[in-house]
Amino acid sequence: MPQPGGVISLDHDTPELARSYDEAGLVQFRHGKFLIGPLAIKSGEHVLDIGTGTGRLAEFVAGLVGPNGHVIGIDPLAGRVEIARLRQADNLQFDVGRAEDLARFHDGQFDAVYLNSVFHWIADKDRALREIRRVLKPAGRLGLNVQDPSRPHQSRLFLRQAIADTGIADHRPDSNPVLGSTDEELKSLFAANGFVDYRSELRALVDVHEDADSLLRWSEASAFGNFLEAFSPTEREQVRRAFVRLVEAKRTPEGLTLERYLRFAFARKAPTDN
Ligand SMILES: C[S@@+](CC[C@H](N)C(=O)[O-])C[C@H]1O[C@@H](n2cnc3c(N)ncnc32)[C@H](O)[C@@H]1O
Repeated sequence: MPQPGGVISLDHDTPELARSYDEAGLVQFRHGKFLIGPLAIKSGEHVLDIGTGTGRLAEFVAGLVGPNGHVIGIDPLAGRVEIARLRQADNLQFDVGRAEDLARFHDGQFDAVYLNSVFHWIADKDRALREIRRVLKPAGRLGLNVQDPSRPHQSRLFLRQAIADTGIADHRPDSNPVLGSTDEELKSLFAANGFVDYRSELRALVDVHEDADSLLRWSEASAFGNFLEAFSPTEREQVRRAFVRLVEAKRTPEGLTLERYLRFAFARKAPTDN
């Protein structure tokens, strides 16, 4: 399933974006813990973290599986993997790699696989899910969280408003799509790729950012160079300024509190699926 607009590229990441992602990574880490809880990861298990970014959540999960377990984090962005590798533990390993190609792993290698804020970036979701099913043990668990396009984040609504305020939105209706999957889409993708016991929950979350600039830095780092990519540098600057104006009006003494929604989805490989 190609991404709308075809604008997602893995080629725009920079060492600055990778560092900035790591520094601001606590937001995603908090969402990741909501993903890890229901996966019920136990001591001694083997776990794959797909789209591990700079590895903060993988390091946390390595603590859960303990010395007899193992966690491998993969990410297509070499700069992020480089930072992840600074997190050293005997049961933790990071490699460059993507969801659609797990050929380096053997059939039935993992007890659990998870993707924290990654699924919406994956171009070929069927292929990724087929691969995940292959590398899971029978009854192995899959968990992921993803934006729901019908419930865009509050920051996304501000961004839309900012684009409209600049007067350039109508020329590029596809330039900044809300990526994500609905419950129905996820349910049928999981079923079509042989997963059972699908369940999902849309959670309302509140993210706190210091100010509009740090929110923008965070958005840019999370999108690894794809944020407002379709706009010219001048247009981008105009949108940034309009966005800062809108968002700063919402600031409280605690910072910017913005609502967002994430769908958390879980399933298993069938126990009889060898
Ligand atoms: C928002 S970050 C989340 C990083 C990490 N999971 C965390 O919790 O901080 C999204 C990550 O997805 C990765 N990604 C994008 N396309 C991918 C793909 N096809 N397969 C695996 N990871 C991918 C990006 O490189 C990026 O590091």
